[in-house]
Amino acid sequence: MESVLLTGGMGYIGSHTAVELLREGYDVILVDDLSNSSADVLDRIESITGVRPKFYQADAADHEAMTPVFRDNNIGAVIHFAGYKAVGESVQKPLLYYRNNIDSALTVLELMEKYNVQRFIFSSSATVYGEHNTPPLTEDLPTGGITNPYGWTKYMIEEILKDAAKANQELSVVLLRYFNPIGADESGLIGEKPNGIPNNLMPYIAQVAAGIRDHLNVFGNDYPTVDGTGVRDYIHVTDLARGHVAALRYSRTHTGAEAINLGTGNGVSVLQLIHAFEEANGIRIPYEIAPRRAGDVAEMYACPDKAEKLLNWHAEKTIEDCCRDSWRFQKGIADELRVMRSR
Ligand code: UFG
Repeated sequence: MESVLLTGGMGYIGSHTAVELLREGYDVILVDDLSNSSADVLDRIESITGVRPKFYQADAADHEAMTPVFRDNNIGAVIHFAGYKAVGESVQKPLLYYRNNIDSALTVLELMEKYNVQRFIFSSSATVYGEHNTPPLTEDLPTGGITNPYGWTKYMIEEILKDAAKANQELSVVLLRYFNPIGADESGLIGEKPNGIPNNLMPYIAQVAAGIRDHLNVFGNDYPTVDGTGVRDYIHVTDLARGHVAALRYSRTHTGAEAINLGTGNGVSVLQLIHAFEEANGIRIPYEIAPRRAGDVAEMYACPDKAEKLLNWHAEKTIEDCCRDSWRFQKGIADELRVMRSR
């Protein structure tokens, strides 16, 4: 049987994609170095789906460690999630980000060539559209003009993949440009678990709701948007994961490199998200207006038409679903901590 290899498969988006693939009956192999995820995610994937996927603890950039993964399995396609993803940290440690993110993509591509694997789905980001394009963002817009090294690694890997697809006529590359994933699997067993102070909005809101932080800082209320706060296209991570299943299906009959947005097409402001969370969960989120955060743009949202056309996929969950599911997962973490402390 053919397997799908997920690098970074124990992370936030990787684990949700593993769950959706297993629900669809795919054979899934996970690789992760656990640098930003924990080993118990495997147990949780098993609890949700009833299947325990094969797991290799390895750095996707490590050619030697990755060789048995390709040698000992019949891999039909790779979904490459592995990579560092903290925007602020990438500004402090650019070489680490360039080395790690680009190396892992190259290593996987080299091994795919050696073991004749011809389908590559890449975890790209709407960040490649940079700060000069006006939403709704369509895939034919020029990429670049990015404000941080993390975003440039996504841009550069997209370029590497386009060249690889030009040189190898059999290769199918799908560049999935994610907008802002939030939410969690309905089981509440897997979700986004940032180390330390969260950089992203929803995990921060969830931690304020849990009483871990006393208020949220809203970064700027003087943007030219509906209420002055930043507007983003928040997409439920389960919808996003299903987008990968659709891309995998598409890659069976496709060659070349194709960029496809995974977003909802709806812009939601910071204040709107706070209020949706309050409404969905009956919890008040105290906030203060703070200065703008460097590198932020006013507004980002997708044109989702290409995904509908090529993948027959669109996001189905609502912003309320997102808020409810993010909170269910966060509450689960808080309950576990209480149980551990009371032992
Ligand atoms: N925000 C706050 N307070 C916070 C955190 C965020 O007001 O504590 C605001 C931001 O200013 C922005 C919005 O909430 O307006 C969303 O911010 P996030 O950090 O959650 O998400 P970004 O859109 O900045 O970045 C995300 C991913 C990146 C990716 C980018 C692509 O984190 O990996 O989307 O557009 F590159």
